[in-house]
Amino acid sequence: MSVIGILTAGGDCPGLNAVIRSVVTAVGAAGSHEVLGVLNGWQGLMEDDTRPLGREDVRGILRAGGTILGTSRMDPYVHGSGYASVRATLERNDIEVLIVVGGDGTLRTALRLSEEGIRVVGVPKTIDNDIGATDVTFGFDTAVQVATDALDRLTTTAEAHNRVMLCEVMGRTKGWIALHAGLAGGADAILLPEFQLPLDEVARIIKGRHRRGRRYSVVVVAEGVVPPDDVHPATDAFGFERLGGVAYRIAPVLEELTGFETRVTVLGHLQRGGTPTAFDRVLATRMGAAAAALALDGADRVMVAVHGTRIESVPLAEACEGIRGVDPELFAVARLFFG
Ligand code: F6P
Repeated sequence: MSVIGILTAGGDCPGLNAVIRSVVTAVGAAGSHEVLGVLNGWQGLMEDDTRPLGREDVRGILRAGGTILGTSRMDPYVHGSGYASVRATLERNDIEVLIVVGGDGTLRTALRLSEEGIRVVGVPKTIDNDIGATDVTFGFDTAVQVATDALDRLTTTAEAHNRVMLCEVMGRTKGWIALHAGLAGGADAILLPEFQLPLDEVARIIKGRHRRGRRYSVVVVAEGVVPPDDVHPATDAFGFERLGGVAYRIAPVLEELTGFETRVTVLGHLQRGGTPTAFDRVLATRMGAAAAALALDGADRVMVAVHGTRIESVPLAEACEGIRGVDPELFAVARLFFG
């Protein structure tokens, strides 16, 4: 029987298991192909580390966080010799088409491999919600919910102690999680990489609010905002800028400008772990089924994407043209509530 490979690569994201479950179930229902899971992202393809996946292997994983296949930031073009480093695994296992579930970096690697001859169907995943050519990615809703719950909790303790609370959220260079969680959590200011408010303006907003009788404020900080000292984070072993912690550098500046005690909470990987929301489970399931249908139909160099309420397919190259920032109109709405 022909084989469809599937891998998950890059940072994990709530909903990955729902995609795997959906692909395996949809392919199994068609009856013409088998599914081979590739372990630990591109690393498994380079090292021939795989496991067959049937319906029984994916029962009960819908609500599980992480990915049963494992993931890594290994990249055949960075840590190997590109297509040559994965060809043996593809040939040995008769993999006819590869379903690649990943963020922008993973999808760019998939595009390069497909240009060298591998048939690829992409599935966009990231909590950051910044992939081009799709309106939304699964995992984002879960991250926003985690951040919103945190803001609700921070608000009551901020109020009890008359403090300014900075809540830092993930998102890399884009502010999707910050903007949506800030809106949902009623933030008094939101600092985004796309529309970064100067800190003296943030201080003005906070002081104005406190003058009007409120004695606490909650501010959302996207991890990708430029730090006040403009010192950028170091890169990790994979050349990836390790963000996280910028709020610790903003807090003393704001405290100095406002005169109010300012505390920091960095949500970090809490936003990525754990069970996906119902929205993300449904989206990931729909994307997995659509990817399976495309793989079975002989599609190549495409990615599944959400347009409005529909799941469609787009050329993979389109998704790799650039990442998406937040909508300025939504930021304008959020600003109405600052202070
Ligand atoms: O891209 C998803 C993401 O969670 C970002 O929001 C964050 O900056 C990054 O991954 C963290 O990556 P790692 O888990 O490798 O530190």
